[in-house]
Parts: sequence; structure tokens; C-alpha cells
Amino acid sequence: MDSGLLQSEVTALLDDRPADKVFRVDRSIYTDPLLFEMEMERIFERTWQFLCHESQVEKPGDYFWNYIGRQPVVVWRQADGALKGFVNACTHRAAILTPFKQANAKTLTCRFHGWTFASDGRCLKMRNEESGFAPGKLDRSAFGLKPLERIESYRGFVFGSLKPDVPPLGDFLGAAGKFIEFIADQSAAGMQVLPGSQTYVIKGNWKLQAENATDGYHTGTVHRIFANTMKTREERDELTGMMRTESGRITGAARDGCYDLGGGHMAIWADRVPAEVSPLWEAKDRLERAHPPSKVKWMLLRGRNLIVFPNLMINDFAATQIRTFRPLAVDKTEVTIYCLAPREESKDARYARLRKFEDFFMVTGMATSDDVVALEDSQAGNYARLTPWCEFHRGMHSVTRGPDADAKAGGFDPETSNGSWDHETVYHSFYRTWRRMMSEKARA
Ligand code: FES
Ligand SMILES: [Fe+2]
Repeated sequence: MDSGLLQSEVTALLDDRPADKVFRVDRSIYTDPLLFEMEMERIFERTWQFLCHESQVEKPGDYFWNYIGRQPVVVWRQADGALKGFVNACTHRAAILTPFKQANAKTLTCRFHGWTFASDGRCLKMRNEESGFAPGKLDRSAFGLKPLERIESYRGFVFGSLKPDVPPLGDFLGAAGKFIEFIADQSAAGMQVLPGSQTYVIKGNWKLQAENATDGYHTGTVHRIFANTMKTREERDELTGMMRTESGRITGAARDGCYDLGGGHMAIWADRVPAEVSPLWEAKDRLERAHPPSKVKWMLLRGRNLIVFPNLMINDFAATQIRTFRPLAVDKTEVTIYCLAPREESKDARYARLRKFEDFFMVTGMATSDDVVALEDSQAGNYARLTPWCEFHRGMHSVTRGPDADAKAGGFDPETSNGSWDHETVYHSFYRTWRRMMSEKARA
């Protein structure tokens, strides 16, 4: 049986009046534990979820443990190269099967009572099975791992779903697919998630983390220390070539903008100033031979930050990053970050990419740590019920329905375009999608 608010109560959480230039959300969406439970059931456990990048499960036997909402799942590369996904819980009494987040195994033996499963999900062995059941009465085939209803890969990004009735992955991604392509096509040999990751927990709701990714408006305030540090470094000539940072996006010297991509997906962008300091710059000739100039402009001359609804961020500014966020509670979110790179890049470019990744994105770096403080402040303030609304009106006067000239050149069709990454129209389909899914009655 479904629990949760009535449809009318969910609808009232969003004040969406385009004609009046009003778009605001009730602050309880960040603080109400009942809404959190509904989100797990009606959004996370009912739509496509990013699980891993194909390079993280490259060889037969490679597995990767992740979550869809609250439910543990594992992606497992098969002997024939196909990918399968299973519920990552023993069919005996539910223990998680994978001893590691990511490893290689032909079989997994449960650490609780020792049942063994093959990578195709078959239950191979139940420890002491002869003594536990009457002869001939045990049908081991009934205890295979439960496969995910859907698993699909889009340009190397692997998604899964617990429900069968989701649209084809490409349709779900829509215009966001093009932004994935701008990353995937940076390498002829394939993009690769580099070894190592960082996981941290923020005391904030998962939607604040999603908002943060496409919030260009905060960069001038929250990241002013990062901007000043970059300025000082450049004045001192401490760093040269690719080790320099594209500081134009933070100092306001670069053109920028935002797209509500529809379906809850959203993106911001800023021109790289100066573009030659990007680790990808060495691939310029290769990219220009393989792709039209308008696409190379999006891939090489512009930084981008994408949110795939609800909880995947793909960022390509100073370095290239996959960031996922796993909601733990209404006020707690686990964030994991990975660095992504073209396999064929030079040692120097790889070095610069990793240093920039540490510099800005790692929670120990100079920018993400400030973001975390800002998000935690917002979470704390969202309990202020005398001021019930978070306001997302900025840029409603200047928004363009459909693609602007840059989107047309890039070959994607957003729901709206806007000429500054400060604008909050980027969030509108995110919250409309949230409201639509939260309003739908749970199905069995
Ligand atoms: S829970 Fe896995 S063998 Fe018992
Ligand atoms: Fe930030």
C-alpha cells in the first residue's frame, strides 16, 4: 500500500506561475521525512539510476556495487562481455554479497552462511545443502540472484531500473544525452574513470546537492577564495601551461548560460577562458578532424555541468568529473566523486587534470569544501517555517522557450535557454518532474 501526501498536497509544494514570473518551492521539501520516503519510492526506485561507468566494469567478472534509492544493487560483467545487474542481497537471508565496492570475481560467496552465486546470478551452492533438506526436495534454481528489471548503457554510462516500465534510456535522457556525448567523444579510445574516488557525507538534502551543480549564481560569492587564490598564483607565475586554471568563468570574464533540458535534466555552461590551459587542448587537432566545428566548440571551448535527473552530475570544467549523490535521510546525503579522462591523454595532461581535480572538486580542495558549508547552511535555514518558500524566479524575464543559437549549433533541443548561468529557470523542469513523479500513485 502506498503512503504519503495527497496529490493536492504535493502540488501545493510548488508555486509555479510563469505568467506572474513566480517559481518557488516549499522549504519542507528539504526537511520533511515523509516526503523523503515518498521520493525513494516514487522517484529513485521508479526511474533510471546511474550505476557506474563501463570502464569501472571492464573485464569479465568485474563488478560494481551501488544503490537504487535505498536498495543495494550490483553490476556484473559477464563472461561474454554483456552487463547484468542484480539485487545485491543474498537470496538466503539478505546479506550484501559484495565484499568490496568494486572488484573482480567469477563467483561471490556470501559471507554469512556461505551460499555461492555465479556472475550470471545462478545459485551454485548452498553450504551443507545435503543435510538441510529432504533428498531431492531442494531446487537451487529458485534461489538465483534477482536481476534488475532494466540495465542499459549510454555512451559508456551504465544505468539500471528496478521497474520494467521505464522509457528507453535514450528517450529518458533526451537533450541530456548530447551533453554526455560531448564528454564521451573526447576520446577515440574511450573515456576512463581513473583509479581512486572520494566519498563524503553532507548534512543536507539531496536536492540541494543537485541544485548546487547548476547554480552559477553562487560562484562569485562561495568561490571567491578560490578565485583570489587563482589570481595570486597567476600573478606570481607559479603555474604555467596546463597547470593554470581557466579562471575566466569565476572572475566573470567568460560568456555563460543555462539550459533547462526538460525531464528534470539541467545544464550550465561557460566558455573556457583561457581554453589553451585545458588538459583536453592537446587533443584539439584530433577532435577537429573527427567532429564538426560547432561540436568541438561545445566539447573543447566550453565548460559544462550537467545534472541527469535525479542524482547524477557530470562536470567538465577544470577537470572532468562524475559525481553521484545517494540520499541517506532527508537531511543527509552521501556524495561520491570520480575523475574521468580520455585514455590516450599524455602524462602531462593527466597530471594537470588530476591536480585540478584535487584543487577544486575534492572535498579537501578549495571549492567543494565551501560548497558543502553553503549547502549545510541552506539545510539549517530550511527549517525556518515563518519564511516557507525558496525562490527560483531569477531570469524568468529573459528566458527563451526552446533552443537558443548555441543549443541549435550544438544539436540539442532544451525546454528553455537562458543567457546567464546565474538564472534559476534552469531548475524549473527539475521541480516540475519532481512534482509529477511525487503526485503519481505508487504502483505495485
Ligand atoms: S545470508 Fe547469505 S548465505 Fe545466509
Ligand atoms: Fe560551487
